[in-house]
Amino acid sequence: MKEWLPSANWDPVLTVRRAVPADARAIARTYVDCWRRAYAGILPASYLAGLSYEAFERHWKRTLSTGGWAFVSEVEGRIVGVASGGRSRRPRLGRGEIYVLYVDENWQGRGIGRCLFDACHYELAVRRCSGLVVWVLAANPARGFYERLGGVLADENTLEIAGVPLREVAYVWPD
Ligand SMILES: CC(C)(COP(=O)(O)OP(=O)(O)OC[C@H]1O[C@@H](n2cnc3c(N)ncnc32)[C@H](O)[C@@H]1OP(=O)(O)O)[C@@H](O)C(=O)NCCC(=O)NCCS
Repeated sequence: MKEWLPSANWDPVLTVRRAVPADARAIARTYVDCWRRAYAGILPASYLAGLSYEAFERHWKRTLSTGGWAFVSEVEGRIVGVASGGRSRRPRLGRGEIYVLYVDENWQGRGIGRCLFDACHYELAVRRCSGLVVWVLAANPARGFYERLGGVLADENTLEIAGVPLREVAYVWPD
């Protein structure tokens, strides 16, 4: 696998495309691996270790087969990032929401996150869900990414995952 990682003398083609149900397995792998890295020290290790590729594969297959949408980024045919969205869970902040945005750690910092974000933002506008909201755990350094992309801090909330109370914050991109 090592030879496939980014290197100084390899300039691979990066693409972003709409996800299809056949992508569910690769999406689940990216998603679970990113959760384990991004939320280490935030969520209990036992909870993260228990996340199942198979369960998330089933979830994504169902989502993508029943009207849900997502975008994936690929490096030479291999999925390295995923993002999806839909109607905002708190419409007073905006009508559209990005629910998921994860880039494989080996491929971060190359503009993939921004491309996926833009694809979702455009898709939501086309679906008449403009006024974008993203919720992110307050302890997640990815907050800096949303701030860099112009998000304005608009709300906060406490949620519980695996029995742990966690503060989350909302960034908005008004119409
Ligand atoms: C957050 C994440 C999606 C960003 O993706 P990425 O491909 O690394 O980001 P990009 O390369 O497109 O960065 C776009 C810009 O944001 C900046 N940026 C990226 N991550 C940042 C961070 N954590 N803090 C501050 N700025 C950041 C980049 O420097 C770049 O700035 P530029 O406009 O000056 O070039 C990715 O790091 C990730 O998947 N993180 C782990 C999972 C996670 O926490 N996801 C969010 C859940 S809500």
